[in-house]
Amino acid sequence: MKVLCADLFCGAGGTSNGLVEAASELGIEVDLVAINHWPTAIATHTANHPWARHICARVEEIRPCEVVPRGRLHLLVASPECTFHSIARGGRPIEDQKRVPAWGVIQWAQELYIDNIIIENVPEFIRWGPLGANGKPLKSKVGETYQAFVQALRSLGYRVEERVLCCADYGDATTRKRLFIVATRKGAPTWPLPSHSRQKTASSQASMFPKNPEADCDGHEENQWFGHRAVSRHVLWHEQDAFD
Ligand SMILES: C[S@@+](CC[C@H](N)C(=O)[O-])C[C@H]1O[C@@H](n2cnc3c(N)ncnc32)[C@H](O)[C@@H]1O
Repeated sequence: MKVLCADLFCGAGGTSNGLVEAASELGIEVDLVAINHWPTAIATHTANHPWARHICARVEEIRPCEVVPRGRLHLLVASPECTFHSIARGGRPIEDQKRVPAWGVIQWAQELYIDNIIIENVPEFIRWGPLGANGKPLKSKVGETYQAFVQALRSLGYRVEERVLCCADYGDATTRKRLFIVATRKGAPTWPLPSHSRQKTASSQASMFPKNPEADCDGHEENQWFGHRAVSRHVLWHEQDAFD
């Protein structure tokens, strides 16, 4: 069984790691196309995943149907640039062009038939809205662009849900929180239970494994892939009957 996947904004390959490990746990082989415009990222991703197909280009400059001539993907994962959404910027002006590439996900969803989409970003992505002439977010319109983005996915036939997950709850060496948006064509998205959390939530019956002892160290994308793995695994597990 082989799943056809794309990783837009693939960076060094942390997201792809999560996806590939999740598939491997389920006995599924991955056919992956990985895209990034930065040659260093592509070189690093190639070193990590030499078997994948790599494209060094801006997502918005690519025609998805040329990259995927059969027009079908089982799973698309995307972690668009988060710098200009993050509160870590401390209110400095935002370059709106840097937030545009996220719309590339919509273009892919429109041009191809994609069964499932997982988008990951900082939790503040949800506050994505238009900027004023001073380059600062318009307070009265906070979140409106995000809502339009989600609505665009819904208009293309997806059920869409978002959750902020703590990476350490899935075994990552960081307590960073990440927003995951899951869009599915069949049924409503569902979510993996925490595997490493001590926290009992109404929806969680997870057994209480200890948190990763290194969980409080500062995390980069490469040590957040267990979060990606958990979400990818959950989506793949629900869909595996469709992969033939
Ligand atoms: C948040 S990082 C993704 C990290 C990646 N998921 C990983 O696990 O390593 C965003 C990446 O998007 C790339 N990027 C930014 N704008 C882009 C664009 N327009 N087209 C393609 N890649 C872009 C950046 O170079 C960066 O590597």
